[in-house]
Amino acid sequence: MLDLRDPAGSLLRVVAGLDDFRAQALVAPLVVNSGRTVLRTNAVQRAPVAPAQVHRLGHVVLETTSFQQSLDWYQHNLGLIVSDFLFFPGQRHRGPTMAFIRCDRGATPSDHHTLAMTLGPRNRYVHSAYQVADLDAIAAGGRYLAKQGHRHAWGIGRHIQGSQIFDYWRDPDRFMVEHFTDGDLFDTSIEAGWAPMTASGLSQWGPPVTRDFLDATPSPELVRELVHTLRDGGNEFDLRRLVGLLKVATS
Ligand SMILES: [Fe+2]
Repeated sequence: MLDLRDPAGSLLRVVAGLDDFRAQALVAPLVVNSGRTVLRTNAVQRAPVAPAQVHRLGHVVLETTSFQQSLDWYQHNLGLIVSDFLFFPGQRHRGPTMAFIRCDRGATPSDHHTLAMTLGPRNRYVHSAYQVADLDAIAAGGRYLAKQGHRHAWGIGRHIQGSQIFDYWRDPDRFMVEHFTDGDLFDTSIEAGWAPMTASGLSQWGPPVTRDFLDATPSPELVRELVHTLRDGGNEFDLRRLVGLLKVATS
């Protein structure tokens, strides 16, 4: 086990030689009739309103004031590779401000992103994502969370970068988590994509992105951190980047 700190100060634990435990029995995806492909006859379809069973951790998203430095660090030290770059509207010439990063497993496909990093005024956890069996598990699991009084953040929709069907929730501490299914897997033959970072470009379909998901509601704490970051100077977030970030929310 090796504990490292990335340039933003996040603790990273690299582990090797773990014991394999027998996998827990997974709830099978529903048998679905799609188009003319009929797999289910003489049987009804029932999706139980129950907690969605998590199959695995998919990815983590971090906000960092030192995006390029952190990206270099993860590529250099962990060999991660970029699946997609995003840039602030009108600032492509200043380089990317978000990267979706995957593991380099050669010819073995790996998740479109295991880590995603975005430039912002704070160094913080944004969300983590957990794979569930299928769309019904997301929707029925979401209904269960709503019945328990949990706060829905955004969804259900389908992302563009990574293509997964998503649904975002907040726990009582405002910690954001994502249920997802049907994400992209790429081997190393796929080159990185480039696109502007816009609120409308976060999904192919689904409800409009919420302020809650974007964490765009100003708070005294956010303003304090923003002023501190802008004054600090020892990071990559400057006034022009702030203008770019504000454009993201409205484009
Ligand atoms: Fe996500």
